Amino acid sequence: MEFIELSNGNKIPSIGLGTDSVLFVRKLHTGNNNFSTRAWSFYYRRIMRNVWNWELSNSICNAFRMGYRMIDTSAAYNNEEAIGRAIRKSGVRREELFIQTRITNKQQYNHEVRESFFASLKKLGLEYVDMYMIHWPVTGEFLNTWREMEQLYKEGYIKNLGVANCHQHHLEDILNMCEVRPVVNQVEVHPLFTQKPLIEYCKSEGIQVEAYSPIAQNNDRLRNNKRLKSIASNHSKTLQQVVLRWHIQNGVIPIPRSTNKDRLTHNLDLFDFILTDEEMKQIDSININSRLRYDPDNCDFTEL
Ligand SMILES: NC(=O)c1ccc[n+]([C@@H]2O[C@H](COP(=O)([O-])OP(=O)(O)OC[C@H]3O[C@@H](n4cnc5c(N)ncnc54)[C@H](OP(=O)(O)O)[C@@H]3O)[C@@H](O)[C@H]2O)c1
Repeated sequence: MEFIELSNGNKIPSIGLGTDSVLFVRKLHTGNNNFSTRAWSFYYRRIMRNVWNWELSNSICNAFRMGYRMIDTSAAYNNEEAIGRAIRKSGVRREELFIQTRITNKQQYNHEVRESFFASLKKLGLEYVDMYMIHWPVTGEFLNTWREMEQLYKEGYIKNLGVANCHQHHLEDILNMCEVRPVVNQVEVHPLFTQKPLIEYCKSEGIQVEAYSPIAQNNDRLRNNKRLKSIASNHSKTLQQVVLRWHIQNGVIPIPRSTNKDRLTHNLDLFDFILTDEEMKQIDSININSRLRYDPDNCDFTEL
C-alpha cells in the first residue's frame, strides 16, 4: 500500500474502500405506498440491511487480507457495527488501519456532535478514529459542528479532521474561523465530473481530495466510453483500473466500493502501470460536468 502525507504530517493510504449501501437499499424500495406494503417493506429492509451488513463485514475482512487499509463510512450508512466486527475479526493491528467516519446532517441539526461521535466510536469498537468528517456542509450548522469536532480532536479521539461535499466557499468559511484546519475534502470526482478547479483550490490550501463515486458507480456512460476502453486495452487493464489509476496520478485518493472479491482485488491492483501524460489528458477531456449525487449548494440537507 502506498501512502500520502497530509498537511499535518499524518499518513493516509492512497486508496480506500467505500462502504455506502445506498444503491443496494434503493433497490429494495418498492415505491408502493399502501400501509401493508410500507410495513412489509420496513421489516424487509431491516432484515436485508442485516444481511447486507453481514456480507459487508465479511468482505471488509477479505479486503484487509488483500491489503486495503483505509475504510470509509458514515453514521448515515448504518454499518459502523459491521465494520467494527470486521476490524476485530481481521486481526490486523489497529495502528495499521485508517478508519474514517462522518457526522450526519440530522446529527448536525440536532446539535449532537459529541454524542454522535461517541456513538460512532462505540459502534466501531474503537478508542479513536483516524478521520472524522462533516458529511455535508449543512447551512447554518457546519461551522458550529466544526468547532465541536475540533474539541474532540484536541481531546485525542480523532487523529485528523476532514470535510465532505465542500465547495471552495465552504472551505473558505472553515479556514477563516478554524483552529484546526481540515486535511481532507471528500467530493464526487470521476471522468464525467473531474472537478479540476476545486481540486486545484484544495491543493493550494494543502487539503487532500478524496474521490467518492470514483468510477461513477460503474454507470453506462463511463463503462461504454471508447477512449477509456482503448486506454485500458493499451495497458491490459480493466477500464475501472484505468480510472482509479487516473485518480491516483492526479493526487486524489479514490474510495471505490465493492463487496465482490474479484473486483476488490482488481481495484487494488493499480501500482504496476503508469498512464502517459497524453492518456491523462484524454481522460480529463471526458469531463461533461455531470454529477451523480447532490450539489451541496442546491439540495435539501434535511432529505440527505
Ligand atoms: N461523502 C459523501 O457524500 C459520499 C457520497 C457517495 C459515496 N461516498 C463514499 O464513496 C464510496 C464509493 O462511492 P459509490 O459507492 O457511490 O460509487 P463507486 O465506488 O464509484 O461505484 C460502486 C459500484 O461500482 C461497482 N464496482 C466496483 N468496482 C468495480 C469494478 N472494478 N468493475 C466493475 N464494477 C465495479 C460496485 O459493484 P460491486 O459491489 O458489485 O462490485 C458498485 O455497484 C461509497 O461507498 C461511500 O463510502 C461518500
